[in-house]
Amino acid sequence: MKTIHLMAAAACVLVLAVWTQSGVHAQQTAAGADGPRFTAANELMRPTDFREWIFVTSGLGMTYNEDVAGAPARVPNFTNVYVNPSSYRSFMKTGQWPEKTMFILEIRASQSEGSINKGGNFQAGLSAIEASVKDSARYPGKWAYFNFGRGTELKDRVVALPTTQNCYACHSANAAVDNTFVQFYPTLLEVAREKGTLRH
Ligand code: HEC
Repeated sequence: MKTIHLMAAAACVLVLAVWTQSGVHAQQTAAGADGPRFTAANELMRPTDFREWIFVTSGLGMTYNEDVAGAPARVPNFTNVYVNPSSYRSFMKTGQWPEKTMFILEIRASQSEGSINKGGNFQAGLSAIEASVKDSARYPGKWAYFNFGRGTELKDRVVALPTTQNCYACHSANAAVDNTFVQFYPTLLEVAREKGTLRH
């Protein structure tokens, strides 16, 4: 009799343990677990699965320096913008970015000659990966900027760039929604207009 009781009690504990664990897990995925991950040394880890995030847009040959505009034509780069899925869903509802939003800017070379292509450009080798994170508990300026380095020498983890880097000034002065260049992201621009969250 005693053994049966003990076994029943053990089974209860097991069921409870599994139930609690799955509960905790569900909560983690709901609360933006797809966003930035940091090491104890405050380094941002480079997400290896950002190609499964939401693809926001792709810029082609965008340049921000007026003196470059008159210079001899350069081969344009593509800039692919990705955002973590839970923040994207939140933006679609509110037109604003929640805490723990993370963007990846993937810069790729463009190529025009290859295979059957007779005109236009397609994406080629990886040039660099940059990132931004919104986390006001971690960064006094709310947003922080990161550079994971160039194509063949990507770093797995990096600390935020110093706030003296031009990323901070350009994004905060010119971006349309909360440091992000929504003016260049057509589907998000519609949402921001509708929700009235555009700055410019
Ligand atoms: C002179 C202005 C300027 C500077 C300086 C600049 N950016 Fe940007 N950034 C832009 C523009 C414009 C876009 C939109 C790109 C597109 O549409 O492809 C952008 C997009 C981004 C995005 C995508 C999310 C967003 O904010 O819209 C990230 C991430 C990013 N930049 C990181 C950086 C980092 C890191 C640096 C510094 C090393 C930097 N940027 C410096 C203008 C700038």
